Amino acid sequence: MRILVINGPNINMLGIREPGIYGSSTYADLCKMIEIYAAEKGVEVKLFQSNHEGSIVDEIQAAYQKFDGIVINPAAYTHTSVAILDALKSVAIPAVEIHISDVTKREDFRQISYAGMACKKSFIGLGFDGYLRGIDWLIDNN
Ligand code: DQA
Repeated sequence: MRILVINGPNINMLGIREPGIYGSSTYADLCKMIEIYAAEKGVEVKLFQSNHEGSIVDEIQAAYQKFDGIVINPAAYTHTSVAILDALKSVAIPAVEIHISDVTKREDFRQISYAGMACKKSFIGLGFDGYLRGIDWLIDNN
């Protein structure tokens, strides 16, 4: 099974950005954790992070017929990007939405998730563990 893990803007700043919200572990720590977990589960994983909406759209399109599942934290684009929503719908690859923080308890502008409308499942507010739960969900529902 091949899973594409996509992270949106500022996820590369983990460990530096708002540690009270996102914790003190870094993006490199997150990648390592996902890679180790995927290897244990016998899953092939590709990690992609971008600060650019169009690059995320390109990556989703390129996943067509190449990946069996997508784990996506679109970060701030969650709440704004119809383009990412449409890209996920276009490829129709089973997708799971992740948020490190509990967006349901944050600002009003974080209460809408466009990408989430194209995702089969969401793991919200579980920290880095949400990514692993996302991988598990895709394996179980493959
Ligand atoms: C986030 C939540 C978003 O609202 C925010 O813009 C992020 C990270 C999270 O993982 O909690 O950048 O997606």
